[in-house]
Amino acid sequence: MAQQIEKVGVLGAGLMGHGIAQVAAQAGYEVVLREVDEATLAKGVGKIEKQLARAVEKGKSSQQDADAVRGRIKETIHYRDLADCDLVIEAITENLALKLEMWKEIDEIVKPEAVFATNTSSLAVIDQAAVTGRPGQFVGLHYFNPAQVMKLVEVVRCVTTGDEAFDTALEFARSEGKLAIPTKDKAGFIVNRLLVPYMLDAIRAYEEGVGSVGEIDEAMKAGAGHPMGPLTLADFVGLDTLGSICDVLFEEFRERRFARPPLLRKILSAGWFGRKTGIGFYDYSGESPVENPGI
Ligand SMILES: NC(=O)c1ccc[n+]([C@@H]2O[C@H](COP(=O)([O-])OP(=O)(O)OC[C@H]3O[C@@H](n4cnc5c(N)ncnc54)[C@H](O)[C@@H]3O)[C@@H](O)[C@H]2O)c1
Repeated sequence: MAQQIEKVGVLGAGLMGHGIAQVAAQAGYEVVLREVDEATLAKGVGKIEKQLARAVEKGKSSQQDADAVRGRIKETIHYRDLADCDLVIEAITENLALKLEMWKEIDEIVKPEAVFATNTSSLAVIDQAAVTGRPGQFVGLHYFNPAQVMKLVEVVRCVTTGDEAFDTALEFARSEGKLAIPTKDKAGFIVNRLLVPYMLDAIRAYEEGVGSVGEIDEAMKAGAGHPMGPLTLADFVGLDTLGSICDVLFEEFRERRFARPPLLRKILSAGWFGRKTGIGFYDYSGESPVENPGI
């Protein structure tokens, strides 16, 4: 039996958190969005407002609906405003120590029957569940970037997750119009476990001279029907993020397919993190991306 959810707390208004908050508000939930300071909070809320305004401009939403969605999101920098949330989803920085510190604090504040969820891409869900007083009410809700657009949410059951909390999370993701796929608390879950070695292999293929950056991408688009090539995808995910995820997966499984290729290490030392820094496998400074001549 799923629990009734009316109010959702979202921690973090970064790349993922602002999208997760917007999706929940669009599905009719009251949302409390918490950030560490006013400036970061305003930046995240600004992104939501921009998305809502764009939907109105494009005729995808009425002004009235956009205003109602915005009205359902209350922003705060105080944990205490999350006290009466039925579900709390964290999308804070991918750092276990930070996440544990945060859960310990809000576990004392949020009502005991509420369900807690982490959006982590690579950390074990149980490690976070175990520091709370409610390990049976702890799940993973793994959204994809951008959360407003991507259909999938992986719903992760860790060893302590109870049936009620798991059903609540599944039902919640479905109520947002998402495709909720249940999975186990294994590093990388389904998508990153398969996608990360694929992107790393594309980097190794380039290192071995199988093709140029553009040739590898074009080949996978035309030959496998993928909407974007693996090296473009790596730039889009963020090469720093790819590096951290593959390190966690390698640490967990000790398999070569998850190991950081030497070229990725060098690219990261150069500070080329992909689209977010304007340069990665491609240089995005011009009208259209060109292969990075330094690679
Ligand atoms: N980037 C992706 O493609 C992606 C996809 C799926 C899941 N994730 C996961 O989502 C989480 C967030 O990733 P992101 O890319 O949005 O990171 P981000 O750096 O864009 O945002 C993280 C935000 O969390 C805030 N924050 C830190 N501590 C906080 C706290 N105690 N309370 C409230 N806010 C706090 C930071 O100020 C920052 O704005 C990570 O666990 C990551 O693994 C990321």
